[in-house]
Amino acid sequence: MKPARLMLIATALSLAACDHGAPQAAAPIAKAPAPATSAPRKPAAFTPPPESSIPDDDFGKQVALGRQIFIDTGRYAKAYVGNQLNCENCHLDAGRLAHSAPLWGAYPLYPAYRSKNHHVNTFAERLQGCFNYSMNGKAPALGDPVLVALESYAYWMSKGEPIGRSLPGRGYPKLTKPALAPDYGRGEAVFKRDCAFCHGGDGQGQQAAGRTVFPPLWGPESFNWGAGMEQVNNAAGFIKANMPLGRGNTLTDQDAWDVAYYMDAHERPQDPRFTGSIAATRAAYHDTPESLYGTTVNGQLLGAGSPDR
Ligand code: HEC
Ligand code: HEC
Repeated sequence: MKPARLMLIATALSLAACDHGAPQAAAPIAKAPAPATSAPRKPAAFTPPPESSIPDDDFGKQVALGRQIFIDTGRYAKAYVGNQLNCENCHLDAGRLAHSAPLWGAYPLYPAYRSKNHHVNTFAERLQGCFNYSMNGKAPALGDPVLVALESYAYWMSKGEPIGRSLPGRGYPKLTKPALAPDYGRGEAVFKRDCAFCHGGDGQGQQAAGRTVFPPLWGPESFNWGAGMEQVNNAAGFIKANMPLGRGNTLTDQDAWDVAYYMDAHERPQDPRFTGSIAATRAAYHDTPESLYGTTVNGQLLGAGSPDR
């Protein structure tokens, strides 16, 4: 993370802390978090090497470039990005943090079969998917310098790990089903209480000096309808472990499900696999209760796609 960005986030965090610490604002935060229903997560089984150990040679240059692409994607991989997000927004601490789908959790598990596209994906192809969906852009061709650098970074970070064994901390946590079906109204209340401060009341995040400080959660500058975060279970797991930023694991599972549902019940860029019909696109690619695409929530049929800004 760039020092300037770190400072912005640190300021926001301390503001958030002050705000929540002040007696008049203490109500929602001060009460002890209700007991969570999911089993406690195992600590990460792997510590990635420090950034300072990136070698000072041609390989190290690719590793360092991959890291820059990962944290400042719109700048270092501009041609392939169609929104205001960076990889790091969903894979925290430059892809190092356990339970936020760290790169070291992923790299040793590829090639792998993916039900999303019904074939075995190399790691490079897995990266291509991130550009098509999470970044709402277009995938660099296999062998493109952007993919070479990102793969070098992930490989370097995974040094010393066993191949083909899923280590604790991989991916996002899988939460058990909540007691009550996720609900838009309850999710909205959680959003206003715990998220809007940083992500904005309209979920559009905040930019400073052309950089995304707080990423948009929906709308034209966020991930599209084909992305993994569009699935309520993925979003709930990510949010439970990592949000509000700096206070991960303080939401109850129910709150995490509700606010994930609320977030994913908003319009965002169209699924690039759109067939021309929302119903047909749902049947082909979103035939799961975890996707709200093509369903009607809060009186609105989802899946029309956000209009371009
Ligand atoms: C909007 C959030 C978001 C953004 C932005 C994003 N990703 Fe992801 N990424 C996800 C989700 C969700 C998953 C699926 C996680 C899971 O299955 O537990 C994922 C999975 C992955 C995986 C596979 C993880 C595994 O354990 O198999 C890799 C590798 C990856 N992303 C790399 C990237 C790269 C590189 C970028 C930037 C070009 C990027 N992601 C941008 C949300 C995002
Ligand atoms: C203190 C500020 C802060 C608060 C409060 C906060 N977030 Fe975030 N959120 C961030 C930042 C910053 C990132 C990007 C992390 C990074 O790049 O290191 C982020 C990333 C995300 C992402 C992934 C990126 C994207 O745009 O989809 C989601 C989803 C998310 N937050 C949801 C939530 C939800 C839901 C809440 C409330 C429960 C919440 N956040 C509260 C600061 C915050």
